[in-house]
Amino acid sequence: KPINPKDSAVNDSEKIKKLAAHYADASNQNMTTNHGVCINDDQNSLKAGDRGATLLEDFILREKITHFDHERIPERVVHARGSGAHGVFKLYKAIPELTKAQFLNDTEIETPVFVRFSTVAGSKGSSDLARDVRGFAVKFYTQEGNFDLVGNNMPVFFIQDALKFPDLIHAVKPEPDNEMPQAASAHDTFWDFISLMPESSHMVMWAMSDRALPRSLRMMEGFGVHTFRFINEKGESNFVKFHWKPLLGVHSVAWDEAQNISGKDPDFHRRDLWEAIQNGDFPEWEFGVQILAESDEHKFDFDLLDPTKLIPEELVPVQRIGKLTLNRNTDNFFAETEQVAFHVGHVVPGIDFTNDPLMQGRLFSYTDTQLLRLGGPNFHEIPINRPIVPVYNNQRDGLMRQTINRGKASYNPNTTGNNDPAQVKAADGGFTSYNERVDARKVRARSKSFFDHFSQAKLFYNSQSQAEKNHIVDALRFELGKVKTIAIREKMIERLTQIDGDLAQKVATALGLKVPTELTQPVNHSIPADGNPEDYQPIEV
Ligand code: HEM
Repeated sequence: KPINPKDSAVNDSEKIKKLAAHYADASNQNMTTNHGVCINDDQNSLKAGDRGATLLEDFILREKITHFDHERIPERVVHARGSGAHGVFKLYKAIPELTKAQFLNDTEIETPVFVRFSTVAGSKGSSDLARDVRGFAVKFYTQEGNFDLVGNNMPVFFIQDALKFPDLIHAVKPEPDNEMPQAASAHDTFWDFISLMPESSHMVMWAMSDRALPRSLRMMEGFGVHTFRFINEKGESNFVKFHWKPLLGVHSVAWDEAQNISGKDPDFHRRDLWEAIQNGDFPEWEFGVQILAESDEHKFDFDLLDPTKLIPEELVPVQRIGKLTLNRNTDNFFAETEQVAFHVGHVVPGIDFTNDPLMQGRLFSYTDTQLLRLGGPNFHEIPINRPIVPVYNNQRDGLMRQTINRGKASYNPNTTGNNDPAQVKAADGGFTSYNERVDARKVRARSKSFFDHFSQAKLFYNSQSQAEKNHIVDALRFELGKVKTIAIREKMIERLTQIDGDLAQKVATALGLKVPTELTQPVNHSIPADGNPEDYQPIEV
């Protein structure tokens, strides 16, 4: 039965209560200027006579138009098109032996969350059902500060090193001379880059599969992609991969359906999510973890630090430890969905990074882009970005500062004020980085353990049913059929040959090309594992 989530106290999480302090409702109020002066006419500008020139003096006209002129902010450089919702996270099972993160230690706590789903390539106004990866970004407003799990609906990524990210995105975005095509990967620059980047093979299989055309945002899996670390009270570390499993199951639409829907309703996913929440059909995902002991780091024939690889769930099962429920739509798209700022670097004590070179670059990129997108160093004060816990430090001033820091002490150590923040010792919950041993020479290089580009691409292709395989073939025929440069099509056929001969043959035949007999790239050179993956120590939560 439809309910109005706004009337439901159960949806008033601690975060919603804090957001409510910023609500403004203009109904039955006198209209004022931004400085509080009542306006008696906001439809007619001030003129020298009713047919005369408009007067510069008209502060009401100037204020209204100036504000309008400045209403837009830059869209996100990637993931520009998105839909957001509020919700809560509830833990099934405490895991203190693995992590000291409080929100993963107390099954009584309901942690407020804000989630933003997105497409990657299209602009803010593009169609929801483009063939694309979907962003799945979750901000947990925990009692120990914000933890952002900034993931995608696919478990791997196109590239292994963040230094290539601008190249990847330049290649997938509309071409620089004519700004075409909008929100689609079917063009020369994308496939040119992919054909020259064998490490993208695995992700390309996912992107050409039905996973790139979700039936609903409510029916997608989510993945943290990188290997993270859990750190427990004793300072011990285990590796962890994060997962979201939708309780409605994983469903997709077919390509023809996607095209039809995109034409008729470009807001298809956004509308579906909004209406489900409005109707009380709250979308739910279980939170899963794959855990690996540090001692098992080299048991597999892929590198845990390589973001183009997943850990097969048959080898290391996903253990479900909690549930995310989205139960409230936004009040204001701009204030919440557009201004929210996610960052892989927003972690809480008990969660830490690894040396995955893609992750390491992301740790720089998000704040950097948000400084531009959200207009300066104080975007953490925008209501949707504020943690539910207080913020105290000696950072001051800057464009659009809201906080009124009192007293003289804006430096540390000091004897001039009583508001100097005492530093919380590690033992009392202050964040300390995992003290991983590092002993190496500086090199601009890549580990050989990152060199197997095809095994998991093949594994994924072979995991598909016949119908799903046909969809991949059809997607490649369509996509490569749009590529104008024949040499790029040929290079892609060569790449597909390294993944699966039958797949390459089917796509080549459709494009009137031949499968090469000699390959220019070495096929797989997996790293020798120093053990058998079957031997790894399962860690039960
Ligand atoms: C935005 C995921 C790799 C830079 C996003 C968003 C998601 C995401 C979900 C949208 C956040 C939102 O809804 O506001 C991922 C995943 C990656 C990845 C899963 C790889 C595993 C990278 C890399 C870089 C990068 C390597 C740069 C080195 C950005 C930037 C934004 C963004 C600049 C826009 C953020 C904003 O304007 O607020 N990413 N990303 N991403 N990502 Fe990534």
